Amino acid sequence: MNRPWTTEVRAPGKLYIAGEYAVVEPGFPAVLIAVDRYVTVRVRDAVDTGRITSDLNAGSQLEWYRRDSDMVIEPDETPFSFVLAAMRIVEEVVVELGEPLQIFDLNITSELVDDAGRKFGLGSSAAVTVATVTALCAHYGLDLSRMEQLKLALLACIEVQRSGSGGDIAASMFGGWISYTSFDREWARTERANRSLVELLQMDWPGLSVHRVAPPDGLRLLVGWTGSPASTSRLVGGVQSRKAKGRMDYPQFLTESSRCVEALVKALNDGDREGTLAGIRRNRELLRQLGERTGITIETPKLRHLIESAEERGGAAKTSGAGGGDCGIVLIDDDADIDGLLATWERADIRILNLYVHQ
Ligand code: PMV
Ligand code: MG
Repeated sequence: MNRPWTTEVRAPGKLYIAGEYAVVEPGFPAVLIAVDRYVTVRVRDAVDTGRITSDLNAGSQLEWYRRDSDMVIEPDETPFSFVLAAMRIVEEVVVELGEPLQIFDLNITSELVDDAGRKFGLGSSAAVTVATVTALCAHYGLDLSRMEQLKLALLACIEVQRSGSGGDIAASMFGGWISYTSFDREWARTERANRSLVELLQMDWPGLSVHRVAPPDGLRLLVGWTGSPASTSRLVGGVQSRKAKGRMDYPQFLTESSRCVEALVKALNDGDREGTLAGIRRNRELLRQLGERTGITIETPKLRHLIESAEERGGAAKTSGAGGGDCGIVLIDDDADIDGLLATWERADIRILNLYVHQ
């Protein structure tokens, strides 16, 4: 007979509001939100053999593509690799603290996919990593701060993913509206090899910061889903491989993105509605230019339609995350013609996701 689940935690999905692509460089800022769709992880003691079960695995598949002549396989596409990395990192802390290791079952359920198992682009890998880290910290009774648990989840992620700013992890760990600046992966890798994990968790990490940001005042956040999933690591890898080839002024993009995100954060915190809308529009423009100069499709025709139809009604809109599909976001006046906008989306086969911010 199975024992009852003794620990249950959930971690929210996320959406990027601004700062994409630049935030993968250490110290550069982004704004994100956590959304009220969750990955839930349950833990219970087991005897001899622990089992990991997940509804995330139904319909999962391996994808590959070429970068130059290399065949690149997406390890990020297999949710268990994040779960296993999260389990290993927490257990490393347990061992360092001299506590006994346990056998347990893990059960994972996700609301970050539609009924057919298609991902909404809400960061299921990040959420499953955060949920597993926090569930196991609770299960083992580890007394770690939220920041320390964030660092554990970031370390788990870099074991699996070649790229990624960790903004998704921070949003899932902290909830609400946040501004995030990214850690230095190389620094973390080097330090990881040179000192104990517990020591590393207690250090200040260069570049890494998380701050709460005020939600926009009098503006509604709408999220439109294009129905086509996009591979973040492929898109980021594309930009990364072109940045060195002189086809664009990458340092200038970074400077302008961070100026834009800082102005947006200030506008949000000041309750400055016009400044908030202007920040979203400016960031859209920067991302569009980045796409044009690198030849990478960030704003697909469907996303452009989503954005322009919102602009026509006074909203400010942009792609969310890496683009190329997934979601677009809109900030729009409470009393704008939102019904009209949604009708336009419906005709264009853009699905509104009824999401709220998870606090
Ligand atoms: O597409 P998403 O929601 O996974 O967001 C990716 C955001 C990037 O800045 C392009 C990459 C990253 O890891 O921050
Ligand atoms: Mg995406």
